[in-house]
Amino acid sequence: MNRTTVYGCSVMEIDKHHSDLGNITVIESQETIPFEVNRIYYLYDIPGGEERGGHAHKELRQLIVAASGSFDVVLDDGNVKRTITLNRPYHGLLVVPGIWRELNDFSSGAICLVLASHKYDEVDYIRNYDEFINWKKI
Ligand code: TYD
Repeated sequence: MNRTTVYGCSVMEIDKHHSDLGNITVIESQETIPFEVNRIYYLYDIPGGEERGGHAHKELRQLIVAASGSFDVVLDDGNVKRTITLNRPYHGLLVVPGIWRELNDFSSGAICLVLASHKYDEVDYIRNYDEFINWKKI
């Protein structure tokens, strides 16, 4: 999974059911998104100016959603960087394995919802950027 590029990551528009009572957006494991969801987590109460992420995953696939507010996701494959702004709860950023990501510019009250293909495993993380660049060259 080390040869992936930022072009393999895409923003998808998720189904939105609108009503006068409000909206509902549904994500079904393996139906809406191309992997089985084994873990869901969310970032919230992020202090202004704070940055999250700063790592890559070797195998993990993720769908990142701004469930509330907005933030930027900087994707980096070691060659090309792409910045994606997420600011709609019905948009999801599919991130393939092998991509360095940083999340920043969180709006006040932002909630970053992440659906992940695997349970938490620290072994799957690359937390050092130089190590990431070397791993991409293998
Ligand atoms: P990390 O993935 O580094 O956070 P971020 O990318 O948002 O900056 O995780 C932060 C801490 O939370 C780290 O010590 C591990 C822990 N953690 C879990 O225990 N389980 C999880 O599923 C996640 C995502 C993190």
